[in-house]
Amino acid sequence: MNNLKVFGRLQIAKRSYSPLPVDPLLRFKTISQTQKAPKVLITGSLGQLGRGLNSVYKYMYGSECVVMSDIVRLPANATDVSDYNYLDILNQSSIEEIVVNRNIDTIVHFSALLSAVGEQNVPLALQVNCRGVENILQVAAKHKLRVFIPSTIGAFGPTTPRENTPDLTVQCPTTIYGVSKVYAERLGEYFNHRFGVDFRSMRFPGIISATKPGGGTTDYAIQIFYDALQKGKHTCYLRPDTRLPMMYDTDCMASIIQLLSAESETLKRRTYNVTGFSFTPEEIADAIRRVIPSFEIDYDICPTRQAIADSWPMSLDDSEARKDWGWNPEYGLEETVQVMFALLRREEDKPTKITWVYIHSGISIVTSLLGITLGSILLVRTEWHEKLFLYRLTLAYLRRSDPSKYWIVYRIFFGVWIAVHSLHLVTIVLTVIGVHKTNLKLLKPQLFVLVFQIGLFILGISSLFVYSMTGTRVAWLALFVVLFHTLFASTNLYLLAKFHRFLDEKLMILRDILSAQAKSVHFKDDSSF
Ligand SMILES: NC(=O)c1ccc[n+]([C@@H]2O[C@H](COP(=O)([O-])OP(=O)(O)OC[C@H]3O[C@@H](n4cnc5c(N)ncnc54)[C@H](O)[C@@H]3O)[C@@H](O)[C@H]2O)c1
Repeated sequence: MNNLKVFGRLQIAKRSYSPLPVDPLLRFKTISQTQKAPKVLITGSLGQLGRGLNSVYKYMYGSECVVMSDIVRLPANATDVSDYNYLDILNQSSIEEIVVNRNIDTIVHFSALLSAVGEQNVPLALQVNCRGVENILQVAAKHKLRVFIPSTIGAFGPTTPRENTPDLTVQCPTTIYGVSKVYAERLGEYFNHRFGVDFRSMRFPGIISATKPGGGTTDYAIQIFYDALQKGKHTCYLRPDTRLPMMYDTDCMASIIQLLSAESETLKRRTYNVTGFSFTPEEIADAIRRVIPSFEIDYDICPTRQAIADSWPMSLDDSEARKDWGWNPEYGLEETVQVMFALLRREEDKPTKITWVYIHSGISIVTSLLGITLGSILLVRTEWHEKLFLYRLTLAYLRRSDPSKYWIVYRIFFGVWIAVHSLHLVTIVLTVIGVHKTNLKLLKPQLFVLVFQIGLFILGISSLFVYSMTGTRVAWLALFVVLFHTLFASTNLYLLAKFHRFLDEKLMILRDILSAQAKSVHFKDDSSF
């Protein structure tokens, strides 16, 4: 929620969006104070939009006002779900049973097969999207219900004007999803004028929410955030310049609540366009890159989804909805970008931090390579170590007293020496990759090695200090060398730990944004009710 408050504080010039509220729930509170609680049945309520709407209604009127239904089992952690029932919308008498038994006066009909999934199973899409709508409308006619059935930009087609698409225009979709949605729009309007069913509908663009989407063409706009967080990279199934209209989920929920609570006389039509903002994959990737500079996007075009997207509008004209029932989206691309800028401000000192980590890693790579080379040479050319000052001072004496033991210890020592330096080298390379890819896990091995090294050095320093008490010159020399190494490892550890914390915070902020979206949109946090 705090991040949403940040949105509210940002001073941005807005044309078509109202200023973001400090309290994102205000719109819902206002309506609940002036309108009587409905008794709502939500079908397909475990999908992308259903759980959010359930929570909005619960927030507005308490848990008694919603009956949730779907054909899938409840996920284990579905704490936000209440009064859940199995309901197959292909079974008309089951719908009627719930309507009568639970005294339902409003149906929000979300059950559907979305565009990409629908193309893969046309017979099922016809069943769910057409027969389902017929069943809902017939029950609504019989029991005098208010019905909301969402439509989509998919109800337009390649012959529709693609920019600023108006409410009334050519509707010749080329997908079974689009065809079934045009059917739902027409059938709903027919039931309205023939049987007086209070049918209401909106053509939604792609809805951006923190919940996993259900197989639509605009799903990438959600997946891209998760991929940015989890992998630092997203492979998009649409071309980089594919412009599509989108809407933030809280706005989507508000539009449903607002349209359903509008007085019938104010509605000049039964199906309205609503929209938030439009962008391309390239543009959203640029926005994410302002938070995670190493974020990468590549493209593996899915011909089916690309063809669907190419047949859809790039932007919608929703002026009729604004005029007739006061539709006013609060989240635009500008707001999203402003949040990214807020994050970027914290990002400003990142280049300096990265430079220091790279400089230190560079020096560590050189010292590790020197260590490995030195160890290997002394293992092969054992006579070289006889030239060392240390050898003449102490080792020669040890060698003379027990030669066979001396060579065993000598080989073990340099074997371990090479292994430790090689391991260190690997962890440094991992660190450099981790910094580049913003992957915290890759920084951990070097942090561990550095802590281990410093521990060993401290042990060494203590024993050398005791040894130096004997007045040996070599002890002071060795003490100086170990102290230097300790200092280097410590600064390295400090920088890396600071950078690790810095990145961790950055990722936490992005996670916060996603969970704040989840909370504000889906109100999963029951304690806020
Ligand atoms: N999500 C979007 O971006 C978007 C955009 C425009 C319009 N819409 C419309 O909004 C509505 C909800 O969309 P969503 O994204 O939540 O969809 P979703 O795919 O996430 O959920 C649909 C739900 O319908 C249920 N369902 C399928 N067959 C059923 C049956 N026989 N009986 C009962 N339930 C059944 C599924 O189990 C699923 O939980 C749909 O009508 C969709 O066309 C959504």
